[in-house]
Amino acid sequence: RWPKSVSLVEVGPRDGLQNELSTVPTEVKVELIDRLAAAGCKAIEAASFVSPKWVPQMADGDQVLANLGRAPGVKYAALTPNLRGLEAALEAGADEVAVFAAASEAFSSANINCSIVESLERFKPVMEKAKVAGLPVRGYVSCVLGCPYEGRVAPGAVAEVATSLLDMGCYSVSLGDTIGAGTAGSTLVLLETLREAGVPLEKVAVHFHDTYGQALANILVALEEGITVLDTSVSGLGGCPYAPGASGNVATEDVVYMLDGMGINTGVDLDLLLDTSLYISDKLGRPPQSRVARAMLAK
Ligand code: HMG
Ligand code: MG
Repeated sequence: RWPKSVSLVEVGPRDGLQNELSTVPTEVKVELIDRLAAAGCKAIEAASFVSPKWVPQMADGDQVLANLGRAPGVKYAALTPNLRGLEAALEAGADEVAVFAAASEAFSSANINCSIVESLERFKPVMEKAKVAGLPVRGYVSCVLGCPYEGRVAPGAVAEVATSLLDMGCYSVSLGDTIGAGTAGSTLVLLETLREAGVPLEKVAVHFHDTYGQALANILVALEEGITVLDTSVSGLGGCPYAPGASGNVATEDVVYMLDGMGINTGVDLDLLLDTSLYISDKLGRPPQSRVARAMLAK
């Protein structure tokens, strides 16, 4: 019924820190990422090569990648919205990159300043150059269960964008519930729609923000539908600067606690992860956001 193991993609250093009001110092980002690797995270989104005018918090991506410990067997990934971003990621030595599209036109304009079709066109040269360089490319679809500007998003629209990203060569597509509005019900309908549209679910990851507290329930549904790649963020850091009001991603420690309890292997050590959660919360000057970290602290 449930998989024996799942892969976690730790997005805290990118999705989390891109949304902080104050810019986190490079050395703190580096230490956070190194601690996550030591805790057993095997895929870590470490940087974002986007316009520093749009997201100043991510402007030091090259420095972050240059100073990492580079633990063996760990993939350090970066977001690349265009060819310029890909060139910077290659130069900085990212192991993997990600292009990011949306299932809603209004969000696409707000986030990357172009329509969905234009964004897919813009990704083609990124895919070509990444292929030549031998770099795997992940695709994101944002707003899969709701849009901050348009409200409801049709599951069929998500299937179309996911199919386009896979067709152009993304090895996997991550479905972003950018505003955390999804429920177990809408998650099930979405995944069923994707399956019916011919999207291979073994190439699909889920990326739940936890704004409405639904992420763990949605993950359970996703696991039961055969999804084995989950995006999570240490301490529940995160949000998107272009999704007002959206809170952080589901906390890695909450997911690891749940999966440990289900007998599903993640390779992540919960104690080391909790130390990491406390480390970054302390640096950000606030208590950890995750339920598990708060429960453990209260002991
Ligand atoms: P634009 O203004 O349309 O593009 O932005 P442009 O080509 O006219 O460039 C504007 C300026 O940015 C120029 O500088 C470019 O040189 C520079 P200027 O001439 O004004 O000095 N520029 C760059 N600089 C560094 N690296 C680059 C780059 N590209 C252009 N790669 C653009 C288009 C896509 C660049 C912009 O809209 C942008 O950077 N958007 C990124 C927004 C972002 O990072 N959002 C958060 C990540 S997505 C997310 O969080 C969702 C996700 O988690 C899933 C989910 O939860 O749903 C993935
Ligand atoms: Mg996100």
